[in-house]
Amino acid sequence: MAATSDLPTHHRALVLETIEEGFSVKKVPTPQPGPGSAIVRILEAGVISYHREIYNGERGYEFPKPIVGGLSAIGRIGAVGPDAVVLEPGQLVWVDCVIHARDNPDSLFLTAIHEGMDAGSKKLSSDVWRDGAFAEYMKVPLENCFRLDENRLCQELGYSVRELMYMLYMLVPFGGLRDIRLEPGETVVVCPATGGFGGAGVQVAVSMGARVIAMGRNEKELARLKEHVKKGTPGANIETVKMTGDHETDASTLQAFGTIDAVIDLTPPFAAQSKHLKSAIRALRRGGRCSMMGYVEDVINWNVMAMNQTLKGKLMYEREDIVLFVKMLERGLFPRGKDLVDPKVFKMDECKEALDAAAEWTGIGRTVMIEP
Ligand SMILES: NC(=O)c1ccc[n+]([C@@H]2O[C@H](COP(=O)([O-])OP(=O)(O)OC[C@H]3O[C@@H](n4cnc5c(N)ncnc54)[C@H](OP(=O)(O)O)[C@@H]3O)[C@@H](O)[C@H]2O)c1
Repeated sequence: MAATSDLPTHHRALVLETIEEGFSVKKVPTPQPGPGSAIVRILEAGVISYHREIYNGERGYEFPKPIVGGLSAIGRIGAVGPDAVVLEPGQLVWVDCVIHARDNPDSLFLTAIHEGMDAGSKKLSSDVWRDGAFAEYMKVPLENCFRLDENRLCQELGYSVRELMYMLYMLVPFGGLRDIRLEPGETVVVCPATGGFGGAGVQVAVSMGARVIAMGRNEKELARLKEHVKKGTPGANIETVKMTGDHETDASTLQAFGTIDAVIDLTPPFAAQSKHLKSAIRALRRGGRCSMMGYVEDVINWNVMAMNQTLKGKLMYEREDIVLFVKMLERGLFPRGKDLVDPKVFKMDECKEALDAAAEWTGIGRTVMIEP
């Protein structure tokens, strides 16, 4: 166990007292490690496209206040509790935002943005693992710290820590695609593909060896997406389809590509009326699978039953998905540098600018972070 005296008594953090007041940088006491926890020195804290909507109350997400904001991050272990067996001070780690109750893994919540759905998750998010990664130091469950092989990733493969933060976007569709057991060589429709998580889904599916049909409204962004993928993964199998809004037309366009094995959807709640997912499911083969990671209301076609299709909801990913994703990254299965991601970085004092930028700097290969 590292000497806790190595940790400063206080550190800087972005604290949201109330929705109305917004964030301000404050000096707060540095947490100390105990059994089952690590204290991580945060290097980069991820910001997603709708972080701003969460913290200004528009999304209606429930979380305790005051709170230190955040989500997943990359940092270095500062100190560990007595039961750590492989984590050591100085190690580079992925700090994951999905926290499960140890005595009931079905009780889970997303650090600093959503308190979860039951009494157990609400208790843990309020009383135990409350504060997020928009801070110099964060207390994290040991099992949420994933070791990153710094020599392999940063020296041999040449990733910067900022580039590795694109995991924030890529892990989510990876969780959905693994959940519906996407196989190399299969064809998957990613919709909508022009957003942050959809774009990352295209990259992930290509790196998993699938042929991707990327669906979206914005032709210019679809063209950028195709170019980005082809540059980073020469020989990638990628097609694009512009959504017309007409269910039958879009289903026929997709069917013209031949057998479609899988679909992944990442529609934001404000687009819940869109017909694109219904079209994609209509085009699915017999026994096809669909991962529903977004919010679309009208999805049921007659063929879901007649064609033995599976529609599966999925929140985030499982622990083993993160472990496998890191292995894929370390094996060099993803593009490097700007062919993977072009990050925008802000300081804690620029929190408003960071939240605004994250809402705009979306789509494949784009991510935003706060560097405490
Ligand atoms: N299940 C999970 O674990 C999980 C995790 C993370 C996120 N999500 C969900 O994923 C959603 C997307 O997040 P994001 O960060 O990728 O958002 P984003 O970057 O803002 O992208 C939004 C996407 O939705 C498309 N869109 C907007 N309005 C539409 C409409 N009326 N019809 C069809 N497409 C429309 C956009 O297309 P244009 O380019 O044409 O505007 C864009 O492709 C989130 O809102 C969240 O609910 C789920």
